Parts: sequence; structure tokens; C-alpha cells
Amino acid sequence: MESTFLNLEKLCKSRSSCRRFKPGNIPESAIEKIITIAKLSPYAGGRKNWDILAITDKTLKQSMANAIEEKIESATRDMDKAEAAMFRDYGKNFLFFTQAPVLLVPYFRISPVMQALLRQNVTNELLQWERDNSVKSISCVSMLVLLAAESLGLGACYMTGPLIAKEEIGKILALPPGKEPGAIIPVGYPDK
Ligand SMILES: Cc1cc2nc3c(=O)[nH]c(=O)nc-3n(C[C@H](O)[C@H](O)[C@H](O)COP(=O)(O)O)c2cc1C
Repeated sequence: MESTFLNLEKLCKSRSSCRRFKPGNIPESAIEKIITIAKLSPYAGGRKNWDILAITDKTLKQSMANAIEEKIESATRDMDKAEAAMFRDYGKNFLFFTQAPVLLVPYFRISPVMQALLRQNVTNELLQWERDNSVKSISCVSMLVLLAAESLGLGACYMTGPLIAKEEIGKILALPPGKEPGAIIPVGYPDK
């Protein structure tokens, strides 16, 4: 028991967000292993309400980055010069994922039960509560992804900044209607 705790402690202590990746692919088996662990995550409303995509295509990654840059630019339109510069600087943290060989993108849907209820009795409060449940659930999934990556000697970073362009990203990744990306997690060998 004690050694299980010590192993977990070691893993958690060695993990940190990775934002620089070595070029070159990582084995497909490593991605499969990470996804196997992620699928063990607790999830509000049941496991059928989320899934995870593995993206390696460079064009897709670049299209996502372009959409995010456009969103950042449009968000600065109503800001004064100093605020706009600050926001653009902040936004740089939303773009480095293009350098990673793989992006894991957990995505969710509002559960069918809730969809039915919402159709009958739509309130913003109820919808927000359900969305919050999904977003919190994706956080649990993402934490397992980070720890699984670390356990395999891979670096990763949990990113929600890119979701400033979540609708555009959903379209670029051809997510079916009603499904929403919950995070972008670049994964690769860390370039320290
Ligand atoms: C919900 C959430 C969203 C995050 N989004 C981003 C992001 O968009 N870009 C980024 O560079 N880091 C992002 N991070 C990583 C945090 O900056 C990082 O976890 C924090 O600074 C602590 O550092 P550590 O992960 O190395 O321990 C995010 C972390 C969390 C929990």
C-alpha cells in the first residue's frame, strides 16, 4: 500500500506542464496506453458522454492555431492598446501545441437525458449546470491523461486557452453536432 502511495507521489511530483516538444513521432502504443488510462476516469452522467481524439495531422493543427489567432485578434478589437497588447501576449500560451507530435482532444456532449429535459424545460441555469458537469468531468479525464503521459516519460500540457475558438475547432476536427472540445492536450517527448 505504502509503495503504491510513494509511486503516485513520485509521479505527481515529477509531472509539470510541457510546452516544448522534441520533433518526431511517439509510438502509437503510447497513445493507446494513455487513452486506456483516461477511459478509467469518473464522468458525470456516464462514460458514453465523452470520447477522445488523437490528432497528428499538421494541417489540422495549423488550422486550429489560425482559428485561435483570429479569435484572439477579434477579442482585442474592443480593448484599448495596452489591454490588447496584454491579451495578445496571454494568447501566445494558446498556440504552442502545433509543435507537439500528437494532440489529445477530449470532447463531450450534453447527455441525452438532459437534452430531453432541456427541450421540455429550457432554463439557462439548468443548461449551465449540465455544461459545468461535463467540463468538470473532462478535467478528471485530462488529469489522468497528464499522469499517464508522465508515467511513459512523455510531456503534456492541459490547455483550455485554445477553447477561445471552440466552435471553430469543433468544425475543423469534424466533431458531430452537439459535441464540444473540452481541452487540448499536446503530448510528446519533452525538449528540456
Ligand atoms: C484548466 C487549465 C487550463 C490550462 N490551460 C493552459 C493553456 O491554455 N496554456 C498553457 O500554456 N497552460 C495551460 N494550463 C497549464 C497551467 O498553466 C499549469 O498547470 C500551471 O501553471 C501549473 O504548472 P504545472 O502544470 O507545471 O504544475 C492550464 C491548466 C489548467 C488546470
